[in-house]
Amino acid sequence: MDVYDAVTSRRAVREFTDRPVPRRTLDRVLTAAAWAPSASNLQPWHAYVVTGEPLAELKKRACERVAAGDPFDEPEYQQYPPALKSPYRDRRSAFGEQRYGALGIPRDDLEARHRAAIANWDCFGASTALFCYLDREMGPAQWSDVGMYLQTVMLLCRDEGLHTCTQMAWAKCHRTVADILSPPTDLTLFCGMSIGYESTPAPRTGRAPLTETLTYVG
Ligand SMILES: Cc1cc2nc3c(=O)[nH]c(=O)nc-3n(C[C@H](O)[C@H](O)[C@H](O)COP(=O)(O)O)c2cc1C
Repeated sequence: MDVYDAVTSRRAVREFTDRPVPRRTLDRVLTAAAWAPSASNLQPWHAYVVTGEPLAELKKRACERVAAGDPFDEPEYQQYPPALKSPYRDRRSAFGEQRYGALGIPRDDLEARHRAAIANWDCFGASTALFCYLDREMGPAQWSDVGMYLQTVMLLCRDEGLHTCTQMAWAKCHRTVADILSPPTDLTLFCGMSIGYESTPAPRTGRAPLTETLTYVG
């Protein structure tokens, strides 16, 4: 697949079939993704790929606790600044409008939004999940390295006919994830990523005009 096609066809997919992803396909993607760049070649990512019974158990435990209204785990990092300023606040609310509008959920129906959000912890039906950890001593540059690794995984998935959804939602239940994966205690969970085959295509999320995010000088 052409790189431009991989970039432009990647979307956060939130409806997957339960078709399993062959292990050799995952191996190809994850072997190539290890070539993602990182400052001083630290390679600060620690990925766990979970399928089958362990993933079914993790989805069950996480969905049950969120549906029961249990409080989320104490955050290990700040997902967004506490007072998100413009234009970021506006982009976030436009995204929420589009996402929940497509599901027919009105803006003020927080309970329906909560119910829809629970699909996060079912990996939107996907058969495979990747959980991405990094050492809790790492700083902003290494978090950025991890982002490059994740994007590399997502683009390679496109070449294999797979779709993905990166999910910080999983960090809200990091203890439930740790109960299944038993990661070393010096690691912190950045996010999960659902991986699989798309069932129902959803509309693309838009982007800000380039004039807002790009400046040419010279
Ligand atoms: C780090 C990161 C965390 C995200 N967390 C979630 C999440 O928890 N749940 C979700 O449904 N989408 C999540 N997304 C997907 C974004 O909402 C999505 O990438 C954004 O709206 C742009 O849409 P697109 O990826 O379809 O182009 C996340 C994306 C990133 C990069």
